[in-house]
Amino acid sequence: MDDLKQKYLGQIANAADEAALEDIRVTAVGKKGEVALKMRELGKMTPEERQVAGPALNALKDEINSALAAKKAALGDAALDERLRSEWLDVSLPGRTRRVGTIHPISQVTEEVTAIFGELGFASAEGPRIDTDWYNFDALNIPGHHPARAEMDTFYMHRAEGDDRAPNVLRTHTSPVQIRTMEAEGAPLRIICPGGVYRADYDQTHTPMFHQIEGLAIDKDISMANLKWVLEEFFAAFFEVDTIKTRFRASHFPFTEPSAEVDIQCSWENGTVKVGEGDDWLEVLGSGMVHPKVLQAGGIDPNDWQGFAFGMGIDRIAMLKYGIPDLRAFFDSDLRWLRHYGFASLDVPTLHGGLSR
Ligand code: PHE
Repeated sequence: MDDLKQKYLGQIANAADEAALEDIRVTAVGKKGEVALKMRELGKMTPEERQVAGPALNALKDEINSALAAKKAALGDAALDERLRSEWLDVSLPGRTRRVGTIHPISQVTEEVTAIFGELGFASAEGPRIDTDWYNFDALNIPGHHPARAEMDTFYMHRAEGDDRAPNVLRTHTSPVQIRTMEAEGAPLRIICPGGVYRADYDQTHTPMFHQIEGLAIDKDISMANLKWVLEEFFAAFFEVDTIKTRFRASHFPFTEPSAEVDIQCSWENGTVKVGEGDDWLEVLGSGMVHPKVLQAGGIDPNDWQGFAFGMGIDRIAMLKYGIPDLRAFFDSDLRWLRHYGFASLDVPTLHGGLSR
């Protein structure tokens, strides 16, 4: 009996898995197993022998069964440990972010400018890119014979015969949206208008399609001083500096009187420009007090209302802010360029949250 016990307890200790354990159970303590066979031999024994052998066999059977149960539990624990080890997951690892494209610098800068002017109380207006020559020129005090029409290198579109009110020009600036917004909303007014504009021009600093932001503020007592303050607030916020000086140079636009071209303070170091410091100047926009004829064309009485307007190139201030050297790259759709200069698609620029982090 001791031999049996040694044999089976040894086998159980070495069993590799539950299937092996089951085999041992069947051959040892199964209905036709070795212990059962021994039990049958009890019948041939004398009562005295049986009294010793019977309990001993039962004890052996119990011992083997409990060894089987213990080993089974141990194997289960080991299997669980192995699973826990192999399925272990480090939840403290940083997430894997998947790129879902980037925001084009022009879109980013448009959002930034819109956010800043939004804080200053300017709403965002839109107008069509294909407009009539009335909105693009006449209403802005640029009559047919005016040299500005020729200077603007306008793309004209074919008009169906007899349809002399159909849109016929790709707008050369965002200023027609001044008229459309005056017509639609009247005074007082505070809007900006970002959008694409077109001129037949192509070299390192000109593309036939580019982007402008128009600004327009109309009220009872608006002056050039308001314009200067608004622009300086805007440029400081946009270039993320504390203050920025502007320089107003007398200029001429048919739709403003007086008119000024505005420069911002900058410095040059090794061929790169830094905005907001130094003694050099960069021209960034055209502006002035809205011409009375323009107010009139928009349906606003120039005896009651006055205002300022400005227009600046989005592409140009984007190049300045983000150190982008060539304007044409904006429109090449080169993915490598977009990945380099693009912005994270879920970061919405705000003044409090950060414009360009
Ligand atoms: N429309 C002008 C341009 O495209 C800019 C401008 C807008 C100037 C508003 C004065 C007032 O150059």
